[in-house]
Amino acid sequence: MTQALAVVLAAGKGTRMKSDLPKVLHRIAGTTMLAHVLRTAAAAGVSQAAIVVGPGMGDVGDAGLAVTPDAQVFVQEDQLGTADAVKAAAGAYETAKGPVLVLYGDTPLLRPETVKAVLGELEAGADLVVIGFEAADPTGYGRLLFDEKSRLSGIREEKDATPAERALTLCNSGIMAFRSGATLSGLIGRIGNHNAKGEYYLTDAVALAYQEGLQTRVALSNGEEVLGVNSRTELSVAEGLMQRRLRTTAMEQGATLVAPETVFFSFDTAVGRDVLIEPNVIFGLGVTVDDGATIRAFCHLEKSRVGPGAVVGPFARLRPGTELAQGARVGNFVEIKNAYLAEGAKVNHLTYIGDATVGPKANIGAGTITCNYDGFAKHTTEIGAGAFVGSNSSLIAPVTIGDGAYIGSGSVISKDVPSDALALSRAPQESREGWAAKVRQRRNRDKTK
Ligand code: UD1
Ligand code: CA
Repeated sequence: MTQALAVVLAAGKGTRMKSDLPKVLHRIAGTTMLAHVLRTAAAAGVSQAAIVVGPGMGDVGDAGLAVTPDAQVFVQEDQLGTADAVKAAAGAYETAKGPVLVLYGDTPLLRPETVKAVLGELEAGADLVVIGFEAADPTGYGRLLFDEKSRLSGIREEKDATPAERALTLCNSGIMAFRSGATLSGLIGRIGNHNAKGEYYLTDAVALAYQEGLQTRVALSNGEEVLGVNSRTELSVAEGLMQRRLRTTAMEQGATLVAPETVFFSFDTAVGRDVLIEPNVIFGLGVTVDDGATIRAFCHLEKSRVGPGAVVGPFARLRPGTELAQGARVGNFVEIKNAYLAEGAKVNHLTYIGDATVGPKANIGAGTITCNYDGFAKHTTEIGAGAFVGSNSSLIAPVTIGDGAYIGSGSVISKDVPSDALALSRAPQESREGWAAKVRQRRNRDKTK
């Protein structure tokens, strides 16, 4: 297959977002809208990318390069329209032998299947393909025009349309593809700006191609996936649609979601088979949940791995670097960070485990804290296989607790504990026989005086 190039337009300031952040850097399911578009292109087999940014938008270029390291970044100096924006990337497309796609950086829901369908139309002989959609409310969109033989003959922008054209509802999504860099170069050079907005419209390429006798086609998509985000409200709509997709995917792959609408995924959350996810769970970036694991209600997870059959929550927080091996258990009001819990280890109640390893079948009692930070640096705690840490213990790192060792409840452990030893550091208990009864008697006597 010839190498395809995606030109991603991301020069818009996104004024309506009312944000200091360029529009395409706002996030959906944990990653930027620009990253979604670049990933979609790559997933559809488009091997090269050019990103068109506005002046002073180095951070947009960097965000793109973080996803697609060999992308080329171009700056569009003045915002003179979509054709002008594409032209900024001439350095990338003029030499492109394969197809050139124009994608918008603010269209995060586009699916790889749709991009593949467009490439398919080109392979089947089309010179120019437009992704169209049936709009419930076409206001603001360019309308697709057809000749008497139902061939796509042009696109009319809303502001330039006649009343009859405005009544049309089949609209331009904005996404377009050209047979080759040469096809695009040949058309774009002839686009002028004699229109209502005084802009260079990329959409004019369609009429020019049609008049030249080139084959122009429409690939249909649903309106949802070409939704453009211009405001915070639209951002929340796109987020909602993306979440619905991610939930459906998790369920299709064999996970049970008791209340799907209350579970929030990141774009990269990996969920195995026979996983049970109870209501109100949030997955930050970089989480893998292996087969048969259970995430109970009200958990928050990020950059963590939950091993096969492990149980987390309710009300647990797994912070970056957490790894739970098979059958490990993390219960309510437990926070784990940068720690490995080996097979069958249990941390069931009200505990903080940070910068630690917990051996197989070890049991950590309620209220245990690894004191991993001394105000200057982080230190590690190692807890051996089968160790038993009594409730309300403080483990002052760096410290090692040997295999099978036993920590008496309420201990402050600051020295290593040998295997199979008992370590106790609490004050010895003292009981004074009859003391309470004596005090009560004296009080009663004083009262009756
Ligand atoms: C464009 C299409 C319209 C289509 C609609 C779909 C044109 C002329 N019109 O209209 O047919 O229905 O998208 O949403 O193409 N951009 C730049 N530099 C510029 C101008 C735009 O980078 O100089 C970027 C914007 O940031 C945006 C995209 O191109 O991501 C579309 O531009 P916009 O001005 O929003 O086009 P529309 O008027 O919505
Ligand atoms: Ca727009």
